[in-house]
Amino acid sequence: MPEAAPSILRFENVTVTFEDVTALDAVSFEAREGESRVILGAAGSGKTILLKTALGLLKPDSGKVYVFGRELTTLREKELFDIRSKIGMLFQESALFDSLTIEENVAYPLVNQRSIHCPEKDVHPRVVEALEFVELGGTLEKFPSELSGGMRRRAAIARAVVTSPRLTLYDSPTAGLDPITAHTIMALLVKARDVAKTTTLVVTYRYQDGNVMANFRYNSEQERIEPARNGARREARTTFMVLREGRLIFEGDQDQLESSKDPYISKFVKQRE
Ligand SMILES: Nc1ncnc2c1ncn2[C@@H]1O[C@H](COP(=O)(O)OP(=O)(O)O)[C@@H](O)[C@H]1O
Ligand SMILES: [Mg+2]
Repeated sequence: MPEAAPSILRFENVTVTFEDVTALDAVSFEAREGESRVILGAAGSGKTILLKTALGLLKPDSGKVYVFGRELTTLREKELFDIRSKIGMLFQESALFDSLTIEENVAYPLVNQRSIHCPEKDVHPRVVEALEFVELGGTLEKFPSELSGGMRRRAAIARAVVTSPRLTLYDSPTAGLDPITAHTIMALLVKARDVAKTTTLVVTYRYQDGNVMANFRYNSEQERIEPARNGARREARTTFMVLREGRLIFEGDQDQLESSKDPYISKFVKQRE
């Protein structure tokens, strides 16, 4: 067995409750460096809460969350900010600031997360680089309302990766997009993952998205994504997780997922395009 890669995100029996709802129910898993995780589950099953808990925006009622090996509740505020600055996040519905230009939106984490220490003169070139990465080089002065849904999603990806995070969390990056635009977005996620070797968690309800994460890789010489050969697929290590009413009811690879007999799980698997 090769030595295990460093632990990036670990949940140990994490429970998060709101008054009468158990949003996460004793969830345990560990994502290691370079791994991809695809999180499936019905609306209200706890997917967004899982990502917010990983970011330290929500505190578990019980259980522990470790990010880069550090348990979040033991951290002082400054240390928590420091950890959070190494995590990229795409919130549901992109969550761009309507009153800021695309340039200002993408610059936001560089300027406002003080632990990033980005010198002022470097902000503009990094924003341009991130926007070119998502093929939105010409939109710096535009406002979110002037872009299409797919372009807004790409701007939100640029904002998530502009800080070169070690861990990136994407909440429903393809929701509401047509299948072709959704594929373009997933191709960008694969590129962001493979260029920077970032540990990546993607929440989605489209099985096809998970299929792209698991079976494609970015070829930096050809500058395009391509089907991963068997070895590369194993190397890329994509793990699927299925949430149901806050419980993690499945964790495994795509073959295991596809052979599951559980009707709740196979409902997601059948959504192939
Ligand atoms: N701020 C909140 N207050 C009360 N209940 C909440 C809050 N946020 C989420 N929930 C509940 O927690 C559960 C999980 O929510 P969520 O993680 O957003 O689901 P999804 O899988 O659709 O992302 C749902 O039952 C939701 O209603
Ligand atoms: Mg959600």
